[in-house]
Amino acid sequence: MTVTRSVVLGCGSYLPARTVTNAELAAKVETSDEWIVQRTGIRERHIAADGELTSDLALKAAQAALADAKVDAQSIDLIVLATSTPDQTFPATAVTVQAALGIHHGAAFDLQAVCSGFVFAMTTADALLRSGNHKRALVIGAETFSRILDWEDRTTCVLFGDGAGAVVLEAQAQPGTRDDRGVLTTHLRSDGRYKDKLYVDGGPSSTMTVGHLRMEGREVFKHAVAMVTDVIEDAFKATGYGANDVQWFVPHQANKRIIDGSAHKLGITPDKVVITVDRHGNTSAASIPLALDTARKDGRIKSGDLVLLEAMGGGFTWGSVLLRW
Ligand code: ACO
Repeated sequence: MTVTRSVVLGCGSYLPARTVTNAELAAKVETSDEWIVQRTGIRERHIAADGELTSDLALKAAQAALADAKVDAQSIDLIVLATSTPDQTFPATAVTVQAALGIHHGAAFDLQAVCSGFVFAMTTADALLRSGNHKRALVIGAETFSRILDWEDRTTCVLFGDGAGAVVLEAQAQPGTRDDRGVLTTHLRSDGRYKDKLYVDGGPSSTMTVGHLRMEGREVFKHAVAMVTDVIEDAFKATGYGANDVQWFVPHQANKRIIDGSAHKLGITPDKVVITVDRHGNTSAASIPLALDTARKDGRIKSGDLVLLEAMGGGFTWGSVLLRW
């Protein structure tokens, strides 16, 4: 009996041209390259140019993913764009990308689950593809967090950056075993009791402003490893796979210490962990597809590899996706 699976056809990413090093930040706020590298693993981040919007980053990543997948934009009938930094409160940034790609059919919408956004977007696109109502999807994570940072707050401004990444997913008939290609299992969680640990102090309904990111870093750190390992164990239970079967662990790129702690707790060896946080900081919903694209383009991720994605972020929200490339 065949089943429908969402198979990755290609991926792409985009980082704004301007890089800002830790040394540059140390000239503006009381911090140092040594402190940032030691606590987070971040060495530099990319910052969007004036007038360069989340949709511009998303469009470039989407175009790169379409080229990598060797498919025409007109074959896309679903765009799910994960972002917490949309161009405008509405319409969705996804429809701006849809229009720029010249697509006038299908559906396009934004999804907001902060740093877990890409995992939530993959899960949503996978469900819509498996429903039979959509055939080919662009799943995008795109952010301009530089616009919601308080650049005088050293506890947050050193952590984040701008960027975008995308994958093309296609509904394909597969044999229906755990050796199938495509998304094999997804697991999402949220717990709003933690909503004040990482938030933005503004919004259209509360302050009529955009606001700035605020975070209790230590509290986030305390919960992060336990939460991500929880949903990864769910993925292993659902498929019968374990840490030894995973070829590539592609976690949300927030902080190298959280990534190392999660991999260690799960028994995933360091050689299987894809880390790009040093080069772009925490790009929230964009970080997983940026890391995926890096590992695909440098030849690490190959067709048939078992790839494990996970993320945790504001809300708190967290989740995992296990797929075969
Ligand atoms: N430079 C220098 N010193 C700093 C900086 C900085 N940029 N930021 C804070 N400090 C100081 C603090 O003021 C404090 O000084 P004090 O002891 O005199 O009060 C000291 O460093 C220690 O501060 P802590 O907050 O306890 O430092 P900690 O070791 O917890 O590291 C960090 C902070 C890196 C934010 C850590 O808590 C962390 O990684 N948390 C997870 C946050 C995260 O990754 N969030 C991303 C979003 S959520 C997600 O995507 C999972």
